[in-house]
Amino acid sequence: MRRLAVLLSGRGSNFEAIADAVDSGRIPDARIVAVVSDVADARGLARARERGLPAFAVERGGFESRAAHEREVLRVLEEARPDLVCLAGYMRILSPGFVGRWPGRILNIHPSLLPRYPGLAPQRRALEAGDTESGCTVHRVDEGTDTGPTVLQKRVRIEPGDTEETLAARILEAEHEAYPEAINRVLAELDDRPAVH
Ligand code: GRF
Repeated sequence: MRRLAVLLSGRGSNFEAIADAVDSGRIPDARIVAVVSDVADARGLARARERGLPAFAVERGGFESRAAHEREVLRVLEEARPDLVCLAGYMRILSPGFVGRWPGRILNIHPSLLPRYPGLAPQRRALEAGDTESGCTVHRVDEGTDTGPTVLQKRVRIEPGDTEETLAARILEAEHEAYPEAINRVLAELDDRPAVH
């Protein structure tokens, strides 16, 4: 049984897509052992509680420094002993020490075809550039922002008349397919290796 942890800061639709995939067996032999948020009233955290999953709020405001906050997130995660940590709209940059704790086992999803448009507002930037396609990328997290080796990408067309909202919604649908698929790929690679706790 593989153990998944999810970090989120907001809406949590990717978390729900992952949880649905676990529940339906599309991600087989896995369970979600922790959902952690830096925002106590994040909708995703409420949804995690409704599903009866272990949900933890670790708010930045309760800590004197960014490092102290991250240490607490790390402590909560370590207790859950995840095999894979999935960032799903988690709006904080992870320190190199955090990333090094689960090398190659922290995933992130980003609403662009990386390496195009890392960082904020990628959908708007794709529209402004006049691109005809966009999409999403699931990648392994390294020490950069939205860098790290790609696990998979899904493409979507940019239609004439698209706004930032319509494009974001179309990309989000692709994200909900992409994340469970990417998790399966990474878990399959881990299958031959013992979990590092
Ligand atoms: C998604 O667009 C994801 O790609 C980005 O943040 C957004 C999170 O959405 N990193 P949600 O909270 O999963 O609904």
